[in-house]
Amino acid sequence: MDKFAVLGCGVVGSGVVELFLKNKALIEKRCGKALEMGYILDLRDFPDRPYADLLVKSIDPILADPEVTVVAECMGGVEPAFTFVKQCLEAGKSVATSNKELVAAKGDILLATAKAHDCNFFFEASVGGAIPIIRPLHKCLAANDFSAIAGILNGTTNFILNKMIKENMDFSTALALAQEKGYAEKDPTADVEGHDACRKICILSSLAFGKHVYPESVHTQGIREVELKDVELCAGLGYAIKLIARVQRLENGKILPTVMPMAVEEDNLLSQVNGVYNAVMVRGDGISKVMFYGRGAGKLPTASAVLGDMIEEVQLSHTIPSQTWVNAGTDDFIEDFSAFTAKRYVRTTSADVPALTAAFGEIGERTVSTEDGETVFVTENAMNAAAVDAAAAKLAAQGIQVLAQYPVLVS
Ligand code: HSE
Repeated sequence: MDKFAVLGCGVVGSGVVELFLKNKALIEKRCGKALEMGYILDLRDFPDRPYADLLVKSIDPILADPEVTVVAECMGGVEPAFTFVKQCLEAGKSVATSNKELVAAKGDILLATAKAHDCNFFFEASVGGAIPIIRPLHKCLAANDFSAIAGILNGTTNFILNKMIKENMDFSTALALAQEKGYAEKDPTADVEGHDACRKICILSSLAFGKHVYPESVHTQGIREVELKDVELCAGLGYAIKLIARVQRLENGKILPTVMPMAVEEDNLLSQVNGVYNAVMVRGDGISKVMFYGRGAGKLPTASAVLGDMIEEVQLSHTIPSQTWVNAGTDDFIEDFSAFTAKRYVRTTSADVPALTAAFGEIGERTVSTEDGETVFVTENAMNAAAVDAAAAKLAAQGIQVLAQYPVLVS
């Protein structure tokens, strides 16, 4: 018999307990052996819960118990999660985590620690909630040379944008609803400002391209500035504004990871991903592209991914080599954001098409002027941020303001 411990009994940790108790017989059959819940570490008291007798407030009894072979880390945050996870791995106990902040900040160290102690550090639940994406990347798709990954990786912001467009709900009401449903982070700033999606694209980039990508290296922009007006006008032009986390490998061999609101063409499947759902599109030389889709946040969807990792960890007796990356990424690995180019959706104060064209180049057929005299259009040219600023400055000299602009995700 193996025993497991759960670190942190919040939304995800309590989901692991609940789903395990519900499906224990199935899970044990799939593990090929008996599995018992041994400990739940949390600083809070849960006197009314059926498993209150398993609660501990220190990591020590878990580390000292040789029957504990697997640990689910669902605490969130870097510390004390990092210290506890490292101690577990050093004691030869495999860890499954839902904690993307931990993996994005310390994944390289924890993978090396797991390897040194012949156990495993798995993190399927850290990206995309219920969606299997980590394992497919390093197993099913392992024969591919990857060229790009693009996804909707934050359920809270997708939920908010969706409520804004479909129900005309204001930003704060939609955020409060996401928090009530257990989708948002403890501090929802991480969702709204794009930090959560940033951590997730760091993890996918590290896995796909083989060197650790730290959040500081990723150009990250959230959805706080997105106005309902642009969501609606963009939809009128045939685009959906989505928070897109993306990494592309450039011709010079460097990678360019970004997180920002983008105008997604409606024939791109990512534009159809609504509510708390996440989706990840992976491009590789063998597959062309494949897409993964499912619930990206919430108690049981995330718990499902944690338990899936735990089941595999119980079955393994050694570190597996594939789910790893070797080195920290250096400057010659990650391209500067100035190299990012895309066509742009633009909203201006003027319908003076010759002036707009003189600044932005051809602006295509999808140009619409609103009743209040504003104009929205999509540029024909792919532009970087400096080129957009230069065009805006040219218009400003003529008294025309650029009110909003979003890069377009074509496919
Ligand atoms: N706050 C995250 C989200 C939770 O909304 O996607 C899942 O990582």
